[in-house]
Amino acid sequence: MRYGIFSDIHSNLQAMEAVLESYLKENIDKYFCVGDIVGYAANPIECLDWVRKLNPVIVAGNHDWAVADLFDMEYFNPIAKQAVLWTKEVLGEKEKSFLGNLPMVFEDENFSLVHGTLDNPQDFDYLTNEFIAKRTFAFMKNNLLFVGHTHVAGIFIEDGGSISYFEEESIKLTSNKRYIVNVGSIGQPRDGNPRPSFCIFDTNTKVLETRRINYNIQEAKKRIIEAGLPSYLAERLSIGH
Ligand SMILES: [Fe+2]
Repeated sequence: MRYGIFSDIHSNLQAMEAVLESYLKENIDKYFCVGDIVGYAANPIECLDWVRKLNPVIVAGNHDWAVADLFDMEYFNPIAKQAVLWTKEVLGEKEKSFLGNLPMVFEDENFSLVHGTLDNPQDFDYLTNEFIAKRTFAFMKNNLLFVGHTHVAGIFIEDGGSISYFEEESIKLTSNKRYIVNVGSIGQPRDGNPRPSFCIFDTNTKVLETRRINYNIQEAKKRIIEAGLPSYLAERLSIGH
């Protein structure tokens, strides 16, 4: 099976469509979305429609739950808060109810999904270092976890007692190690590279790839400005921050 795993679209329709075009060439059997479909950019309804057409397994992001009134607005900085409020105005009750019904964690015998961390998923903490990764490894019931939230793609590997961090485009997973894979962000990358990030995992070969592609950033920026959202949300797309 070939899995497509992606996260943090954040209402960026232009980035989402470019990623879909890439995925369609990859014979993907099943999709997985690690949360934050909405928030920040200008096309939440269209992004939600695209994601639902893929029929993925989805877990909730903090923005998804915030627009559904399930997560405290005090968590957000003023610009993010403005984007959440704007998104709440644009979405209908059906969309908010869909987002509000997303689960916090997906888990089966092979792998799991969570937006932030497994130790306190409802707090949406950022999994940014080996110390925080260790706490999440302790809660894993399998060998592979996909996360999002930081908007920075990378892989924590637990090998015996030690945990290391890598940023690899392609890696072959082995059964004697455990992995936390941050798939990065489609709609608002924050690693200095403005190109959308998304993953492909082949369950037969055990090869995990992280792809980056170009998209029409200017159009995404234009839509943000036209929507009356904070201009910083447009500017940051160009610098990948
Ligand atoms: Fe996010």
